Amino acid sequence: MNSESTRLRNPRYYWGVWLASTAIVGAIFLIPFVLFFLMFNIEPGLKRAILLNALPCAAVGLVLTILASAHAVRYLHNLIRQTAKAVELAEVRERERDLAQQELIRKLQDERELDRQKVQFEAQLAEYEKYAALAQLALGAAHEINNPLLGILSHLELELRDARNPEERVEIEQCIQGTKRISSTVRGLLNYTRPAPLWLSRLSLGRLVDETLAFVCHQPLFRAIKLEKRIPADLPEISADANQLSQIFMNLLLNAAEATSEGGSITISAQQKGDDAIAIRIADTGCGIPGDILPHVFEPFFTTKRGKGTGLGLSISQAYVRSHGGDICIQSVPQRGTEVTLVLPIRQQDRPLLEDEEMVV
Ligand SMILES: Nc1ncnc2c1ncn2[C@@H]1O[C@H](COP(=O)(O)OP(=O)(O)O)[C@@H](O)[C@H]1O
Ligand SMILES: [Mg+2]
Repeated sequence: MNSESTRLRNPRYYWGVWLASTAIVGAIFLIPFVLFFLMFNIEPGLKRAILLNALPCAAVGLVLTILASAHAVRYLHNLIRQTAKAVELAEVRERERDLAQQELIRKLQDERELDRQKVQFEAQLAEYEKYAALAQLALGAAHEINNPLLGILSHLELELRDARNPEERVEIEQCIQGTKRISSTVRGLLNYTRPAPLWLSRLSLGRLVDETLAFVCHQPLFRAIKLEKRIPADLPEISADANQLSQIFMNLLLNAAEATSEGGSITISAQQKGDDAIAIRIADTGCGIPGDILPHVFEPFFTTKRGKGTGLGLSISQAYVRSHGGDICIQSVPQRGTEVTLVLPIRQQDRPLLEDEEMVV
C-alpha cells in the first residue's frame, strides 16, 4: 500500500480537515458581523436588536454546518476506507494471478522438458534394441568367420615361408595383413558383444601405463609425438583386469596418436577421486572432435577413419570400463585437442581377486 492511501485511511487526517474547515466556516460567519459593527456607527438599541435576532440564527446555522460537515467527513472517511480496501484486495488478487501464471508457465516448461526427455529416452531405447539385435547377429557371424579365417591365416603363413620371389612375398604379406585386420575386427566384435570375464588383480596404474607406453612408443605413429606421464607414485593400487585395462589404454593412445600431428603431445595423468575412485585422463593436442560427431563416438562401428578404422575402439573401451563399474567420457575442442577421462573404482566390491583363483563375470 502506498503512503497516500495510508494517509487517506488515517481518521486523524479527517478530523484535522474537519477542524480546519470548521474554523474557516466560523470565521466566515463572524467576520461580516465584526466588520459590520466596526465600520458603521449604529445606534446601540439597533445594535442590541440585531445581536439578539441575528446572532442566535448565525449560531444555530454554525452548529448545523459543523454537525453536517462532521457527518460528511465521517461518510467520506468510510467511503475512502472501503475504496482503499477494494484497491488492496484487487492488488492481492492481481499478485495471486501473476503467481498462478508463473506457476502455469513453470509447469508447462517442466512438461515440455519431460516430453523432450521421453522422446530422447525412446530414441535411446530403440538404439539399444538395435544394438542388441546387431550384437546377436554379430556374435553368430563372428563365430562363423573366425574359424575359417584362422585356417586361411595359417595357410598364408605357410605360403609366405615357401614364397619364391619378393613380389610374391609382398602380395602374401598384404593378404596376411588383411586377414589379420578381419580377425582383429571379429575379435573386437566378440569382445564388444560378449566381454570376456573379469580377471581381477591388484594393479599399479603407473606400472601398467609404463608397460603400455613402452610398447607403443616404438611404433612409427608415435615417433614424432611427445608422450608424457603424470601419475603420482603414491596412487593406491586398484582391483582391475590388467588385460582389459591395457587394451583400453592402447585404444585411447592409438586414437590420440591418430588425431595428433607431428610435434603434438599426449599426456596420461591420474589422480585419486574421493576415497573410492581414480580418475585417469588421456589428453592430446590433436585435431579434436566436431560437436556433431562427439555424441556418436561410443557407438559401435562409428568411425571417421574411412577404410582404416573399425569404429570399435571406444565402444569396447566403454564396455570394459562399465564392466569394472566405472565410467568413461570425452571432452573435445576442435583444432585444440581431446581429453578422455576414465573413472575406475579402487576396489571391486564383493568380487574376489585373481590370487583367490576365481574368475568374475
Ligand atoms: N583422441 C581423439 N581425437 C579425435 N577424434 C577421436 C579421438 N578419439 C576418438 N575419436 C573419434 O572417434 C571415432 C571412434 O573412435 P574408435 O571407436 O576408436 O574407432 P576408430 O578409431 O576405429 O575410428 C574416431 O573415428 C574418431 O573420429
Ligand atoms: Mg580407435
